Amino acid sequence: RLQNKNLVIERMIILATNHQKVLLVGDGAVGSSYAFAMAQQGLAEEFVIVDVLKDRTEGDALDLEDTLAWLTPKKIYSGEYSDAKDADLVVITAGAPQKPGETRLDLVNKNLKILSTIVKPIVDAGFSGIFLVAANPVDILTYATWKWSGFDKSRVIGSGTSLDTSRLRVALGKKFNVDARDVNAYIMGEHGDSEFANFDEATIAGKPLLQIAEENGVSRDDLATIEDETRHKAYEIINRKGATFYGVATSLMRISRAILRDENAILPVGAPLDGEYGLTDTFIGSPAVINGQGIDRVVEVPLSADEKEKMAASAATLKEVRDNGFK
Ligand code: NAD
Ligand code: LAC
Repeated sequence: RLQNKNLVIERMIILATNHQKVLLVGDGAVGSSYAFAMAQQGLAEEFVIVDVLKDRTEGDALDLEDTLAWLTPKKIYSGEYSDAKDADLVVITAGAPQKPGETRLDLVNKNLKILSTIVKPIVDAGFSGIFLVAANPVDILTYATWKWSGFDKSRVIGSGTSLDTSRLRVALGKKFNVDARDVNAYIMGEHGDSEFANFDEATIAGKPLLQIAEENGVSRDDLATIEDETRHKAYEIINRKGATFYGVATSLMRISRAILRDENAILPVGAPLDGEYGLTDTFIGSPAVINGQGIDRVVEVPLSADEKEKMAASAATLKEVRDNGFK
């Protein structure tokens, strides 16, 4: 009995001291959906929302507070950049979304300008946690966040191809009639039009996807169609409802959980490469181990020669736009 009592007290102390704080910048469609997902999951005891639209953050904080009688206790409020001082995680979703017909790369100048007003005040506030960036073009904005913050690369993470990988797994799950969570396949490269699927190494239950496809009468062309539809899914959604947000919000929640719960989860993110795939000086979609310290290490997928070329081409596309938009 005494031992049980001691264990309960120990657990209460852990819960009382393990106070985690997340600051969200950008309370639009993506940001507010992320805040909702975090509340549903009971992640972060303190959640601060910052946006240039103060009425919006105050309204959202009040609205989100109304969920708490049914969820995990949490403090949710509209705040300022100075609140980043003791935050564990800052998530950036501030930025213009694409209009129908625009690519993510078309947003580069507009959104770099917005980002430049965000990173410095957060660093000046004394923030020493982890940045997670989702505003587009996300790979370039992640790179800029790293450059402007002066942070170690391990503490700056892009949402990268997390959403695209989810889209691919859902499509393959439907095709092969298995739970999307049991599909081990990645979308890699730019979160954008030059991304690609790693079909050559993909597996389901350890069995090569290409073999499963052949046994089920699914051709390489059929897989290419799935890859193409995945690549273009954002356009399909934007054409219909003007924006995408639930998918990315859930991807951001998943990455946040890996950080806040120190999971060592292997997730597809916008990762800083240092020789992997023969590439350096870029943040780009690749699996990486994510824990409480940020990106613990990049997991280099043993790509086929053809896929390695696609990765290099995707990195070159990003670098060209970055060199023009970001000095
Ligand atoms: P939105 O227009 O609904 O919201 C953007 C928010 O940013 C607005 O509330 C706006 O007031 C705020 N904002 C603008 N300038 C700011 C500043 N200087 N400081 C603080 N806040 C500022 O847009 P959205 O649909 O939420 O999309 C946000 C971004 O996320 C876009 O760039 C979009 O392309 C991107 N996105 C990324 C992914 C991904 O997978 N990485 C998926 C969907 C959307
Ligand atoms: C997406 C956004 C637009 O849904 O980047 O992929």
